[in-house]
Amino acid sequence: MLGLYDSGLGGLTVLAALRAAGITQDVVYFADQAHVPYGERTEPELHGYLRDNLALLGEQHVDAVVMACNTSCAVAQRLGWPAVPFPVLDLIETAGRSFAGTPHRRIAVVATPATVRAGAYGRAIRAAAPHAEVFEIGASALVPLVERGDADTERGRDEVAAVVAQLPPYLDALVYGCTHYPLLDRWFAAGLAPRIERIDPARAQAARTAALIAERDLASGSATTTYYTNGDAAAFERGVRRWTGDLTGRVAALIAR
Ligand code: DGL
Repeated sequence: MLGLYDSGLGGLTVLAALRAAGITQDVVYFADQAHVPYGERTEPELHGYLRDNLALLGEQHVDAVVMACNTSCAVAQRLGWPAVPFPVLDLIETAGRSFAGTPHRRIAVVATPATVRAGAYGRAIRAAAPHAEVFEIGASALVPLVERGDADTERGRDEVAAVVAQLPPYLDALVYGCTHYPLLDRWFAAGLAPRIERIDPARAQAARTAALIAERDLASGSATTTYYTNGDAAAFERGVRRWTGDLTGRVAALIAR
């Protein structure tokens, strides 16, 4: 069984990538919606949530945690990863590695303010692609927008346009450095020149997860996901259904803590 967590709905994009890659392990997904948005929180606060969330997933006897929150990874890189008895796949490290051999020279990363402050994406990408220029752009309105259920609205379009307007010229690629942002992909696609590749690190994270499953010979499951939130359970369930399609029979439990 795999554990995933995010501050809210964003990690569903990582879950979708795991399923699209044919990963059938059962998943425990935790949305820490009592503390969303993470992007505006301090590092010590975020580090505390990371510890608590890993412990919570550990109580569910997960074999590994597939990180689905960039902001937590950025903070862990600065303050240290809590010691846990299972592997934890760092999403930012995965994203960085995926740039080895990239032809891209000018790469923008859109992320939460906390992730940008930590500078983790720039470091991770440059470690794999030293020739690359990396521009990290903080966006604070997008996560609350998705959590409110406004991703498909004109407000969503306008907020994304405001972020796109801040991007430097002559980009080769734009990286979604927050797992909520692929849920706004249609608006990014509308605002960016078609030659700019839009990169969702969730795909590389899914490939790394598949490799870990093979390496550790983890038992396959029935692709069942159990969702937990410590926020508004009814709103969360609406979000899960909106973003994962018809999950009838797969939402095994929806428990508020
Ligand atoms: N989706 C998360 C990330 O990838 C955090 C979003 C937030 O709560 O600010 O960073």
